[in-house]
Order: sequence, then C-alpha cells, then structure tokens
Amino acid sequence: MFSVYIRQAERSIDVEVGSTVLETALQDGIVYPHGCRAGNCGGCKSRLHSGEVELSPYSEFALSAEERSDGFILACRAVPWSDCEVSWCELDDVAVHPVLELSCVVKNIEKLTHDIVSLQLEVLNTDAFEFSPGQFVYVEFEGYPKREYSIASFTDNILEFYIRRIDGGTVTPFVWDYLMLGEKVRVGGPHGNMFLREQHDGPILAIAGGSGLSAIHPIVAAALRLRPEQSVRLYHGIRDEADIFRSEVFEQLRLEHQSFGYDPVLSESTGKTARKTGLLAQVLNQELPKSEAMDGKAYLAGPPPMVRSCRDVLVDKGFQSMNIHADPFFTEADRLD
Ligand SMILES: Cc1cc2nc3c(=O)[nH]c(=O)nc-3n(C[C@H](O)[C@H](O)[C@H](O)COP(=O)(O)OP(=O)(O)OC[C@H]3O[C@@H](n4cnc5c(N)ncnc54)[C@H](O)[C@@H]3O)c2cc1C
Ligand code: FES
Repeated sequence: MFSVYIRQAERSIDVEVGSTVLETALQDGIVYPHGCRAGNCGGCKSRLHSGEVELSPYSEFALSAEERSDGFILACRAVPWSDCEVSWCELDDVAVHPVLELSCVVKNIEKLTHDIVSLQLEVLNTDAFEFSPGQFVYVEFEGYPKREYSIASFTDNILEFYIRRIDGGTVTPFVWDYLMLGEKVRVGGPHGNMFLREQHDGPILAIAGGSGLSAIHPIVAAALRLRPEQSVRLYHGIRDEADIFRSEVFEQLRLEHQSFGYDPVLSESTGKTARKTGLLAQVLNQELPKSEAMDGKAYLAGPPPMVRSCRDVLVDKGFQSMNIHADPFFTEADRLD
C-alpha cells in the first residue's frame, strides 16, 4: 500500500499495490476529474510532483510523449510504486461541469445518411445540465453496455447525437433496428478534454471524420456565436457525396460569416464532383501553410486512424501539440485494457 497526497483534495489516499490513483481516489469520495477511465481521453491528466508511478498502456491523444517527459501522468493508468504527490490539471485543460446521471427518453430518431442517425433524447431531470462544446457523455440503452457519444447539440432539454452504424457492433445496430420512441435511456456526463477553448481568439481548424461531426459541429457553432469574425475552417471527411450531412447548416453559417470556411472532402468519390477529394490528411497537407509561429488551435474528432494521420500533418505544419485537441472515437475493437 502506498500513500498518495492529492493537492486539491488536501489529503492522502492509501492506494493498494496494483490499483490506480484514480480508482482509489474515486472510491474514497474525491471528485477527481476523469472521463473514459481507460487512458483514451486525457480527462484525468495530472502532474506527478514526487514519487514513482507505472503507467499502463494509454493513447498518445490522452498524454503526449512530451507531456510524459514533462512530468504529467494519467491518474486512470497510474499505479504507484512509492509514496507520491499529485495534482490534477486545471487551467484550460479541464472543463469543470458537474457530472450528472440523466434520465432520458427517446424523442426522435432521424436517418441523416445511409449509416448515420440523429438521435434526440429528452432529459427528464430538472438539474441544470451543462457541457462544453466538444464533450461527450456515456449513453446506456436498457440491456446494453454504455457507449460514449459526443453531444451534437443541447437545446430545450433535448440532447442530440450523430451516431454511425457499425456492422458487427453491439449498440449501434440496436439503435438503428430496434430503438423505439419513448424508450428510457440513461446518460452520464459530461466528460472529455476535447472542448472549445473559449479564451482563444486565433484561427480555428475544425476537422471531423464521418460522425466525428457530432463533436465538431457544436465547437464550430459556439466559436462563431462567441466571435462572429473568428477565422474558423471546417473540413469534413467522408467517403462520397451520399455521406454528407448537415451541410445546409454549414452553408448557412458560410453565408452569415465571411470568416468561416466549410469543405466536405470525399475520399472515395464515385461521380464527377466539384468538391475536394482524397484522404483528409492529404488535403490538409496540400492546403495548410507551414509555419513555426502558428497561433491557431485545431480540434479533431472521428475514426482513430483519420485523427492520427491528420494530427501528424498538423504537427509537421507547425502546430504545437498543446494546440491540438483530439477525440478519436475508439470502439471496443481499440480498447487498451
Ligand atoms: C470519446 C468518444 C466519443 C464518441 N462519440 C461518438 C459519436 O458522437 N458518434 C459515434 O457514432 N460514435 C462515437 N463514439 C464511438 C462509440 O462510443 C461506440 O464505440 C460506437 O458507436 C460503436 O459501438 P457499438 O457498440 O455499436 O460497437 P462495438 O461493440 O464497440 O464494436 C465496434 C467494433 O469492434 C468490434 N469488437 C467488439 N468487441 C470487440 C472485442 N472485444 N475485441 C475486438 N473487437 C471487438 C466489433 O466487431 C465492431 O467491429 C465515440 C467514442 C469515444 C471514445
Ligand atoms: S480518464 Fe484517464 S484518460 Fe480518460
């Protein structure tokens, strides 16, 4: 057993050999910021002030090699090997909203493309639910395991998500084929570290792959609402014309904001098209200037390989990793445990 002092809690916890800092802190009633509990989201990022921990496998999106060598750890992966002192990250790295358990009912299910639905849930709780644009919640349909979904919008107590059907998946075929209006659904959150940094007034590069638009749409909308002149450029990677959705919303934003750019990028275009074509990472590589003095921020969400390849291009173009905020949509096939 090792003693771990947590600065913000102003007390120590006793962590059993082999247990993580996060699980013990939560068991001891400490409201330690976290999200996925699986090394994927960065929501539990912390500074190790003293002592030694072993980190079990985690995603580079949650903690970069640079952050690791600067003394940061992930509390959900950190197994102490000595007494330690830690503090969780504050500043702009953590969105602080109360994490709530919401009782919801299915209000609407609308097919947006051949494999994406808009799911709307009405929140029955009276507690005020808040989130930062880009964050996700856990959604639990009765009889099914919880899954993470990014909040596309939240208006008049209706939560909306864009959900892609994954053949062979557990939850999404159920949502497509069997979920009925009025069914009860449990939602927990918000969570996650990929959210709009409202203080930042420099250019924004918003990059979504497929249903990744669920996380990126609210970021774009909120940024333009907050600063109508802010430079915001959205790239939406999909396979073909038939996979484009919500384009009417972004076309309208383009009419209203000269500083907003919107480009669907087709990776497997079949017909003749005036749209951009190719893999999103290739298009970014061709279009983005290289600069050492980038003052922009990039927000990325969608399939992990797409997020990874686009992130590599951004780093090559001069973005610092602290200005790249990414939510790869990991599924059960990618779990690190
Ligand atoms: C932070 C975050 C936000 C997300 N937001 C969204 C969103 O807004 N919209 C969205 O559409 N998705 C989102 N996702 C993905 C979502 O959480 C689900 O993972 C996705 O919908 C698939 O769920 P499923 O139950 O249908 O498939 P799963 O059961 O997870 O299966 C997915 C794939 O993995 C395979 N698989 C299942 N179990 C295993 C196993 N044990 N070993 C190997 N392979 C396995 C399946 O055959 C299938 O091909 C997000 C994920 C994260 C982490
Ligand atoms: S809670 Fe630790 S990385 Fe998500």
